[in-house]
Amino acid sequence: MHVSPNSSEPKSLTLTQPDDWHLHLRDGAYLQSVLIHSASRFARAIIMPNLKPPLVNTKQVLYYRQQILAALPAGLPFEPLMVLYLTDIITVQEIITAATTGLIYGVKLYPAGATTNSAFGVSNLNSIYHVLAKLEHLGMPLLVHAETASSTADIFDREAIFINEYLLPITQRFPGLKIVVEHITTQEAVQFILDTPANIAATITVHHLLYNRNAMLAGGIRPHFYCLPILKREQHRHALVQAAISGNPKFFLGTDSAPHAVVAKESSCGCAGCFSAPVAIESYTEVFEKAGALDKLEGFAAHYGPDFYGLPRNQQRITLVKQPWQVPMSYAFGDQKVIPLRAGETITWQIIDSI
Ligand code: NCD
Ligand code: ZN
Repeated sequence: MHVSPNSSEPKSLTLTQPDDWHLHLRDGAYLQSVLIHSASRFARAIIMPNLKPPLVNTKQVLYYRQQILAALPAGLPFEPLMVLYLTDIITVQEIITAATTGLIYGVKLYPAGATTNSAFGVSNLNSIYHVLAKLEHLGMPLLVHAETASSTADIFDREAIFINEYLLPITQRFPGLKIVVEHITTQEAVQFILDTPANIAATITVHHLLYNRNAMLAGGIRPHFYCLPILKREQHRHALVQAAISGNPKFFLGTDSAPHAVVAKESSCGCAGCFSAPVAIESYTEVFEKAGALDKLEGFAAHYGPDFYGLPRNQQRITLVKQPWQVPMSYAFGDQKVIPLRAGETITWQIIDSI
């Protein structure tokens, strides 16, 4: 990483092009609208399979991959790293078929009912233990939405409960299983990652680094900050920032950019998800700068993810400069609109170049 010359106030920053290890691209006209925002920043992304209907077999996942590639503007290199959606009835053969393609990099465990389009997820973890054994054997990562879907569990406690009651037993039963705990939001999750071996890692979103739950609830209810796992107290945000800037390779970048149309968010029952793709790397850069840890950004954004997944680091580099720009109030989303994270705000860093 190169920080512009001899200054305590860096004006430009060149780093290995980052990847996004957790991304929702949707499909159809929505995909066409949002893909450019990720593809113009990140070289690769782990693509979530929670479409309607979800991608529960290899054929569906590969078809979706083709749709993503077809939606890319000509000449813009971007590699979608595909993921299969786990259900109660998924077979070991399906896992083997997925792994054999060389194009599917993980399988996603959504506890049934935990989040957007998770109704077909896993309702009984015991029913997929034979599948987890196969993943461990193949060295294929299990990507986990680590929240209990129990209706009696308080929404602010759902991550910590899931970790204790479900994730810990899985790591004990399958000690070699590669696991990514997606979008961690609590001190407890940070501690869990610190306490487990190198085969267990976590992604951290930029919205969980920037905001605590006051952003969503104090002085009025702001639905564009509503995501799952839900924003937590300040002490948890602080723990996430410390983890992200620690230089520990078990923590890496995953935006969980999850666009929903304005009407679906601004509703009496609004959808969960923050659309952060248009401001993602720029906002992570601000977070690291504010924490006095710009030197740790490249590892978090561009090295530790590929290292964990066993993929080469990117050759290309990007340059960010300190040149304020204003985030648009909305972007096109098919025939609708989507409101991005930080809409209308001024961001200090912008990308000028990728080589
Ligand atoms: C995601 C979505 O909208 O698909 N929403 C979210 O709040 N993060 C699903 C998910 O990752 O939980
Ligand atoms: Zn997600």
